Amino acid sequence: MNLIEQESQHTSGVYGKRDVCFVRGDGTHLWDNEGKEYLDFGTGISVANVGHAHPQLVAAIADQAATLMTAPELGYNDKRAQLLAKLAEVTPAGLDRFFLCNSGTEAIEAAIKFARLATGRHNFVATMRGFHGRTLGALAATHNAKYREPFKPLVADFAHVPFGNIAKLAAVVNDETAAVILEPVQGEGGVRVGSSRYFKAVRELCDKHGALLIVDEIQTGMGRTGTLFASEQLGIQPDIIALGKALAGGVPMGATGITQAVADTLKPGLHGSTFGGNPLACAASLATFAIIEDENLVENAREMGAYFQERLAEINSPLIREVRGLGLLIGVDMRVRVTPILQALMDRGFMVLNAGGTVLRFLPPLTITQVEIESLITTLTSVLRELHESN
Ligand SMILES: Cc1ncc(COP(=O)(O)O)c(C=O)c1O
Repeated sequence: MNLIEQESQHTSGVYGKRDVCFVRGDGTHLWDNEGKEYLDFGTGISVANVGHAHPQLVAAIADQAATLMTAPELGYNDKRAQLLAKLAEVTPAGLDRFFLCNSGTEAIEAAIKFARLATGRHNFVATMRGFHGRTLGALAATHNAKYREPFKPLVADFAHVPFGNIAKLAAVVNDETAAVILEPVQGEGGVRVGSSRYFKAVRELCDKHGALLIVDEIQTGMGRTGTLFASEQLGIQPDIIALGKALAGGVPMGATGITQAVADTLKPGLHGSTFGGNPLACAASLATFAIIEDENLVENAREMGAYFQERLAEINSPLIREVRGLGLLIGVDMRVRVTPILQALMDRGFMVLNAGGTVLRFLPPLTITQVEIESLITTLTSVLRELHESN
């Protein structure tokens, strides 16, 4: 029995998997169990932003594993103290307090609970095509019927309105709204970038009705979009921010950032997590922030993102409808379903993701170079030409 058969025999069955077994990563590269090399344009869905097996991150994890891995928030810890200070420094102004957890969906669960406590309200507004996770509260915020329908009734009261449409939002936000929740760039929903004008209007609407603004930067954070958080460049001022994915460079971690006003409504015992804020994840996150700063990865994401988008837009294929994105979160909206394109790219050694059925999604490490982008462009161009000619 090979490894793929072995894993298939006992895996839950909730994942649709590709026929590949990755066993090693280094920088922008991945290797499968047969020794085949891939350029990684997926980063484990925007997790390995600093690249795979970065020596500084590996050393920080090894050091911390040999020092102390668990120290729940029953007491205090040196790495946690440092990370909390770092988060307060680098997240949008006003977000001074953080609940640490272990995944994106948990960061959203905390955001929903905290918004309910802070406002005394239970109605939420989210966006169509929005994705916020799979636990029951976060699932209520997620829009895709495929994920929601099998689990109804869902726990929270969520209305969904079109992303980017302020009139439709204004029609449902009222004095009973606890919070509006949205992504700066919808990732799973097809890589759709919100405008500064829209986010400014959302903020004003929330203020008018005493509702909170929850911003989900789980996929857009940690330099991905060309600023450390997308909120910076889009002028978004969240009351609550949700972080995850690349936050600890690949070690599972989530965080919910809140204003002092929201924190004032919390009391000991109201929420918690055994693993939340564990020293291993905190050390990994500190190392991740240090690498992003030392290697100017935010600037690289901005520059390479612009270059990559430009080069994708230059591909002359009737199969491409639109290229869009922010920094190194890039979508290519196709006129055809993308599964065969993804397979053809895999065969040629490029790991690329989709966002829905017809959007190719590129999320390379922020260390990606022009040369690596060019090799993807050359291969994608010929894959699309062959596909077009065969139809
Ligand atoms: C914007 C956004 N929010 C929340 C989540 C859920 O994160 P996790 O899979 O870590 O629970 C994701 C994951 O893809 C995401 O992209």
